[in-house]
Amino acid sequence: MCGIVGYVGERDALPILLEGLKRLEYRGYDSSGVALPVRGRLKVHKKAGKIREMERTLPQGLSGTSGIAHTRWATHGAPTDLNAHPHVSNDGRIAVVHNGIIENYAALKTMLQQDGCVFASETDTEVFAHLIAKFYRDDLESAVRNAIHYIKGTYGIAVVASDRPDEVVCARNGSPIVLGIGEKEMFVASDVTAIIAHTQQVIYLADGDVAVLHADSYRTTNADAERVDKDVQEVDWRIEEIEKGDFPHFMLKEIHEQRESIERCFRGRVIPEFGTTRLGGLNLDRREFFDIQRLKMLACGTSFHAALVASYLFENLARVPCQVEVASEFRYKNPIIDKNTLYFAISQSGETADTLAALREIQRKGGRVLGVVNVVGSTIARESDGGIYIRSGPEIAVASTKAFTSQIVALFLFAVNIGRMRDMSPALGRHLVEELAAIPGKVGLILERAGEVERLARKYLDSRYVLFLGRGVSYPVALEGALKLKEISYIHAEGLPAAEMKHGPIALINEETPVVFVAPRDELFEKTLSNMEEVRARKGRILAITNEHPTDRRVEALAEDVIYVPDTHEALSPLLTVIPLQLFSYHAAVRLGRDVDQPRNLAKSVTVE
Ligand code: G6P
Repeated sequence: MCGIVGYVGERDALPILLEGLKRLEYRGYDSSGVALPVRGRLKVHKKAGKIREMERTLPQGLSGTSGIAHTRWATHGAPTDLNAHPHVSNDGRIAVVHNGIIENYAALKTMLQQDGCVFASETDTEVFAHLIAKFYRDDLESAVRNAIHYIKGTYGIAVVASDRPDEVVCARNGSPIVLGIGEKEMFVASDVTAIIAHTQQVIYLADGDVAVLHADSYRTTNADAERVDKDVQEVDWRIEEIEKGDFPHFMLKEIHEQRESIERCFRGRVIPEFGTTRLGGLNLDRREFFDIQRLKMLACGTSFHAALVASYLFENLARVPCQVEVASEFRYKNPIIDKNTLYFAISQSGETADTLAALREIQRKGGRVLGVVNVVGSTIARESDGGIYIRSGPEIAVASTKAFTSQIVALFLFAVNIGRMRDMSPALGRHLVEELAAIPGKVGLILERAGEVERLARKYLDSRYVLFLGRGVSYPVALEGALKLKEISYIHAEGLPAAEMKHGPIALINEETPVVFVAPRDELFEKTLSNMEEVRARKGRILAITNEHPTDRRVEALAEDVIYVPDTHEALSPLLTVIPLQLFSYHAAVRLGRDVDQPRNLAKSVTVE
């Protein structure tokens, strides 16, 4: 959620740090700051608000060839200038930026205060600055190593010292740190997007690692201070993928990318002649596949909704019992781990703290977890026992769109795979993979009619709240539609199983209430129609997402507005029905003047509990 960027080289560090921060701004953004060692002193500037606020108020002539920078999403202490990072030691020699949470910070603060340290902020991070300064003589790496010895909690840090303008030291425990290797320059960041404009050669630090960076060299050591030569990896993203291009917002760009991102997810993974799929990274042999009796998926937010969609596919198509649970609830239940259950951790970022903690808890108890992840090299991707990359490309907008559809495709591929090893007929398998191949074209057709959704978003803009209803596989789509709307437009919205409405929420319905029905013509369509009747009888305003029918006009008779999506197999309908909902939220938010890509209070990747 917070973002780190650091540089050491021969160029002017400040523009590189500011550009990196802006690329990280999507992660969290209530304050930001920079620190540069210049002529024996640390020059520090930090400010509450957006990065442009900090940039606008920068002192003239700030320049140096190394530095660290941070964009913050407040956890300990309000978003103020003083609480912004970097934090500096009392002697002014050490500056630190930090992602994560120091659990024993209160005890450390007391200890440091007894030593005479004066705290300037309310943050937990500040203890890092004082601790490192306490141990610093002329070896910054040792001082950092000594300091982290005292820390309980999670951290990704980057540190500079006033008298070492040619060095940045960083360390990781539970919060990502990636090093970028350039020509006579080195970068550090919490996320590759910050440095991809400069280099594609990266090293992901593991927990316990410490790295020392100089312009023309670097050294990495593990938790035991032993030298480790880590693999240099090539990032396969192109810089255009993290730029808006001709789109006004990342969210709109990412909605429009779904035609390609869905295709990329299944390309090379389908075997049409056998009606099955091929997934390389599962690390399961045949025997282990046969032993699977149940599936359990853990996730948060939009990823949780994708998992819910998949649970219908697993039970209906593959005939494997499947449960889905919000990761934060699962982990605190002292969960019972079963050896014949295959667990999934589903996460776009691969860094969500609750999902990661659930994964670790399962593994501690001997369970096997597959990751369904977008960000290559992320913690969940590395710690899971195998998995599926969803290949949706970098997702920058806080509100997840293309990752949702790719997560569903990845899990669909797994459902067909395991289904075909059990009772699914070759004919059904072939039909499913053929239908999947046709999805990108159908997504394209929906996107061509995006203007119609924009008109409807304007029409329903004044609503105080909106209900989203669906049945079966469309129920999680309704949940996702409601989540999208509240995340970015701040209009209250609730997603419900359509049949559940009569057990309470129906009390909310009057002539002002818009009710969005996700109602593809699947086997539950008739049932959903009855729920539409119930809403209409109470004068609710219906907006229906459905398929066109040559003769049956019942939906049109009940609904005030109808958005059509192309026909597909019902298991795949969420990939189509969700797209108008994403567009609806987007246009509502734009019309209301919201900050679409960076909605208030939210962060892209939530690395705290
Ligand atoms: C945050 C984001 C959501 C996202 C959720 C899970 O809350 O704002 O958009 O769905 O985290 O993220 P993950 O990276 O694990 O999919």
